[in-house]
Amino acid sequence: MNALTEFRLNRHLDEMVPWNDRQQLLEIIDIVDEAPEVKTFTFRADGQTWFRYKPGQFVTLELPLPDGPLMRTYTLSSSPSRPFSIAVTVKAQGGSVGTRWMFNHLTVGARIRAFGPAGDFSLHSHPAAKYFFISAGSGITPMMSMLRWLNDCAPATDVACLNCARRPEDLIFREELELLGQRMPRLALTLMVKGRSMRENWFGHVGRLDAARLPLLAPDFRDREIFCCGPDAFMRSVREMLGAAGFDMARYHEESFAMPVAPVRETAPAAAPAVPSADAMQIRFALSDVEGFGAPDESLLTIARAAGVRIPAACESGLCGTCKVKKVSGDVEMNHNGGILDEEIEEGFILACCSQPRSAVEIEA
Ligand code: FES
Repeated sequence: MNALTEFRLNRHLDEMVPWNDRQQLLEIIDIVDEAPEVKTFTFRADGQTWFRYKPGQFVTLELPLPDGPLMRTYTLSSSPSRPFSIAVTVKAQGGSVGTRWMFNHLTVGARIRAFGPAGDFSLHSHPAAKYFFISAGSGITPMMSMLRWLNDCAPATDVACLNCARRPEDLIFREELELLGQRMPRLALTLMVKGRSMRENWFGHVGRLDAARLPLLAPDFRDREIFCCGPDAFMRSVREMLGAAGFDMARYHEESFAMPVAPVRETAPAAAPAVPSADAMQIRFALSDVEGFGAPDESLLTIARAAGVRIPAACESGLCGTCKVKKVSGDVEMNHNGGILDEEIEEGFILACCSQPRSAVEIEA
């Protein structure tokens, strides 16, 4: 069976099911060099699966390093308007462990676990008549996802887009952005580099985004919904610039191209169950057929680890959605940071990392 017959070309979307991150691995089907130290990895699930997400969201990849799984969150650069695969575009920063491992070990055909998609950094979450996308470096990835979606589904949308890089050769997706700039009638694209390069002539913008340039790039920037993604210092300067210009910051949305918290390597589950304290409540992990005990100030993730039950987790801050589990019974207090949707809560899901028991609880883990 070749790759195409396996993918079942004759299937329609309504005959297929959305990807289930708890049950299906992702298979790498393509790896592309985009710029120095930047690659795009494209994944599919199986021939009967499609991907449902908002442009601009992220996934968490579980990278099987030799000394234990490493969880890393990456923004999707693909568009849900092409729902049979997803792609992440990643840059190996200096000192990077996870991304460098991906570069060195992942090949076409490899299968890995992933969780999500999640996140609120999407024009679908903040609909507006006009947008301004501002990015630097690999912060272009969620903008690319949104631009690809707009090109496929609403190409006449009014978008100003500024993408910055150190040198011309560091501009990620340069050719595709320029093509979109020609095809989308109301896309005003600006590519800006900090310095010219010995490798090619550059006739575009040179320098940095500053208060003088901002109104030249988008004279009506105060009327636009602004999305910003890039290094922390870049986003801070954009925030300050917009604030000083009197921009309504309720219409400003930002996302670091890494999660805004340090991703953690998962610790191995404890071998022995913890001794219950006086106020401990019984926690049952149904799929593992294990029972543990937890105090009201402990998260279900902590209690699971103490009981030797593995729940995948990345941010441990209620942001990424990786630790989502179904609650079968009992009461918890959950204080999340956007890693779970209201509909998922209504369906009985909780985030283990930021849920504390308020009674005996049973969860599917
Ligand atoms: S580990 Fe990220 S939301 Fe729980």
